[in-house]
Amino acid sequence: MKTRILLFIIITALLTLNCSKQNTQTSASNNPSIDQKVETILSQMTLQEKAGQMTQVDRSAIQNIEDIKNYYLGSLLSGGGSAPNDNSPAGWADMYDNFQSEALKTRLKIPLIYGIDAIHGNNNVKGAVIFPHNIGMGCTWDPALVKKAAQVTAEEVAGTGINWTFSPCIAVARDIRWGRTYESFGETPEIQQMMAQAEVEGYQGTDLAASGSILACAKHFLGDGGTTGGIDQGNTQCDEATLRAIHLPGYISAIKSGVGSIMVSYSSWNGLKMSTNKYLLTDVLKNELGFKGFLVSDWGALYQLPGDFKTQIASAVNAGIDMVMVPTDYKGFISALISDVNSGAISMDRINNAVKRILTIKMEMGLFEHPFSNRSFTAQVGSSSHREIARECVRESLVLLRNDNNILPLKKNLSKIFVAGKNADDIGNQCGGWTISWQGSSGNTTTGTTILQAIKNAVSSSTQVTYSEDGNGASGSDAAVVVIGEIPYAEGKGDRTDLSISNEDYQTLLNVKKANIPTVVILISGRPMILDKILNLSDAIIAAWLPGTEGEGISDVIFGDYKPTGKLTHSWPRSMSQVPINYGDQNYDPLFPFKFGLTY
Ligand code: GLC
Repeated sequence: MKTRILLFIIITALLTLNCSKQNTQTSASNNPSIDQKVETILSQMTLQEKAGQMTQVDRSAIQNIEDIKNYYLGSLLSGGGSAPNDNSPAGWADMYDNFQSEALKTRLKIPLIYGIDAIHGNNNVKGAVIFPHNIGMGCTWDPALVKKAAQVTAEEVAGTGINWTFSPCIAVARDIRWGRTYESFGETPEIQQMMAQAEVEGYQGTDLAASGSILACAKHFLGDGGTTGGIDQGNTQCDEATLRAIHLPGYISAIKSGVGSIMVSYSSWNGLKMSTNKYLLTDVLKNELGFKGFLVSDWGALYQLPGDFKTQIASAVNAGIDMVMVPTDYKGFISALISDVNSGAISMDRINNAVKRILTIKMEMGLFEHPFSNRSFTAQVGSSSHREIARECVRESLVLLRNDNNILPLKKNLSKIFVAGKNADDIGNQCGGWTISWQGSSGNTTTGTTILQAIKNAVSSSTQVTYSEDGNGASGSDAAVVVIGEIPYAEGKGDRTDLSISNEDYQTLLNVKKANIPTVVILISGRPMILDKILNLSDAIIAAWLPGTEGEGISDVIFGDYKPTGKLTHSWPRSMSQVPINYGDQNYDPLFPFKFGLTY
């Protein structure tokens, strides 16, 4: 393990050197005319206008739409599930344009930037294509495909008027008890670097001002996936060499790819809240690594800091946070921020640097020239061509863990196939958290193809497909497909101490076992689970992660139209006593190792 860390440190150091060398050669923007324009606007701005630019508010908290103008608000967001009443692509674009119209009534007409968690497609929007969550995208080991998926997501976001996604999450999830494991690509910096670059380039394109490009946001800086016990928003305890070796390389990649924003983690490093860590936010990220974009805090993160509101704001802004995701009490925030400047708790230089970073990105996005939604992508949201790309992602994300007697692939012309399990016919469960609502939910929550529907679509006309959720009724069938695993959750609500297969799922498999037929288990989950109870109840096991709306990607592989190619980006533990378990550990003895995956 020590040599591995040493190797990572050397690589990181070389990358850092290269990155900072590259970045010291550029000013705030790579475009001198943008620099000049920003300086000109900055020189005209009042403190109230500057404070407004540093303020981000959830759309649901806007008490009076004129507040956008009256408080010079620089940014709005939709937190998970914060959707307009008309949750259609056009409804979103109308909402965005209304908000933007208010912003442009201000004296300097500085346009809004609007952020959303489009983390596996434009997942708040009904009818948008929902891609596999990052844990599945990581298992494709296919950065070109991940980039293509990000490009499609960018178009489906732009089609709703929104211009900024709080993605990619480049957490390096080191403990699968963490509820956000599925938002990470995997447990090593290698996979993080690969996918951070792919997604930033996919979202931002080669021209941030292009109509199909949106601003990316690498998150959550730094060490969000390394907390002790996998506790969400917890404490990452390690020395700096380890923190840099494991958690920093993805950010170096993202910066080299030109990421325009970075979100600061709720978590702490050795007991210090990241939102107040000036060394990491300013000395390392901005100065050493040369990050030229802007730093945004996480949702209400400042309230977790020590001291009163003014103290919380001063410590976060002085540490290097440029924009604050308040996200509701914007009047209180702006008043306290201005008070901090007037008292000298925050210098005007710090304010100017924050606003300069924000305005530079807004200019590089072309927002001053094109502030309103571009409806040319609106009809593309949820299109069949986009769904085909998501279906390809599903196929490549699947990891075949077991295939006794090569029972897979199944024949499409079997006379009778039995399908069972709580996740077989539930689009909400196969999409997981961050889908339509923040936590996601079971049921028919959006447009897509369930695994049961996909199986019915795939088989021959003479094949009978039967289904029962509890697994009763399997006898007489030629094979069974049992879809089990987790139900939706997000963030800390997904923190677990026990990742065993549920008793409900175990009972379902016992019921199927009575029929004594070849049994394929499809695991729908946000992370590896403890399989010991079901290993002797299944002939084949596929880790399908949280595949999203395109269930036919799974039937493509079950019936052999495509071979499984996915490889694990997480070590798969034999029992909870092994957790956390990561590639490179001493006495490494998982059930399935990092990069494991069978094929036909
Ligand atoms: C959440 C998450 C962050 C997300 C933000 C806005 O709490 O931590 O990943 O981007 O708030 O929804």
